[in-house]
Amino acid sequence: MNNSFGELFRITLFGESHGSCAGVVVDGCPAGLLLSERDIQSEVDKRKPVPQAGQTPRREEDQVQILAGVFKGRTTGAPICLLVWNKDTDSSAYEKIKNTPRPGHADYTAFVKYGGLNDYRGGGRFSGRVTVGLVMAGAVAKNVLNLKAIEVLAHTVQLGSIKAGESTYWQIRSRTYKNSLRCADAKVVKLMLEELIKAEREGNSLGGVVEGIALNLPVGLGEPFFDTLEGQLAKALFAIPAVKGVEFGAGFRAAEMKGSENNDPLKIEDGRIVMGSNNAGGVLGGISDGMPLILRAAVKPTPSIAQNQQSVNLETMKETRMTIKGRHDVCLAPRAVVIVESMMAVTLCDLALRAGLIERIVK
Ligand SMILES: Cc1cc2nc3c(=O)[nH]c(=O)nc-3n(C[C@H](O)[C@H](O)[C@H](O)COP(=O)(O)O)c2cc1C
Repeated sequence: MNNSFGELFRITLFGESHGSCAGVVVDGCPAGLLLSERDIQSEVDKRKPVPQAGQTPRREEDQVQILAGVFKGRTTGAPICLLVWNKDTDSSAYEKIKNTPRPGHADYTAFVKYGGLNDYRGGGRFSGRVTVGLVMAGAVAKNVLNLKAIEVLAHTVQLGSIKAGESTYWQIRSRTYKNSLRCADAKVVKLMLEELIKAEREGNSLGGVVEGIALNLPVGLGEPFFDTLEGQLAKALFAIPAVKGVEFGAGFRAAEMKGSENNDPLKIEDGRIVMGSNNAGGVLGGISDGMPLILRAAVKPTPSIAQNQQSVNLETMKETRMTIKGRHDVCLAPRAVVIVESMMAVTLCDLALRAGLIERIVK
């Protein structure tokens, strides 16, 4: 078991879906950083489901509490403990299926690994609920990165079969959180919603793709050989439940390109070295190259669907059929947008501290 991530900026995640609370301990944050519950709340609010078709009806207040590590509005250098209380829990649907693992969910592997002692209510530790702690940690990390004007953005670029067109950074910044699908391309939002509603009517779910961008990174973040920028980001993103693929820059497309197409030419602009294209996605040799960092995370369709499915009864060891009740999003990609931003921010903050870009005391 490992519930912590990061070397110098280290986060430890706690809580379960239907336990009393969910939260995070952030250790290694520089002292003197301005930090309020309001800063964290505004990020946590972006993760809340929107009362609209295709989104879970679970309504959590998610009132952020800072329990430790902040004094007179500034971080002290001590561990910061952040949490929200779980209030809108309904475990009845899970009692009935506790011996029948949901296909596509972690019920089966968690049962075997923890000897059936895992909290199965609402997926327990494997619930998307736990990601609220990632978002709280991300809020702290974003404040740290802000000191160096490093910005992290994310947006939905695909939902089901509908792909978004290109958007500028300005459009991503200003439009993403204006619609429930967290998509910066206003033209495709209606099509995405139609596909979402169709899947919901069919008792089905959809996957999607979230693009993450980090702007204003200096050259030099990433610790080769093993803690490369890509490696650390991929590890952070694969911690998000339902993320099944991560690619950087041209990603899998690079495999079918020629070197002459894939190589980003170096040039001088305003006295600075820049690349004429960004197929590398801002990473060369596991180190940031000063270009925008571009990655994409593939999110699988929500495992809990309303259709009748094949499973097994773990007590009787007999095959059985099951229909899942409970409250679920039809597509997780929009919910994952702020979580991708958060895990990028946490990773970049750790690597920025390791590279000596950020001092231990904010002046
Ligand atoms: C924000 C968020 C919310 C989620 N909500 C649900 C849900 O309501 N129902 C569900 O079956 N899976 C949900 N998931 C996905 C499961 O937690 C995940 O698929 C499961 O733990 C298995 O892990 P894996 O898909 O990474 O293998 C959610 C994931 C995230 C990020």
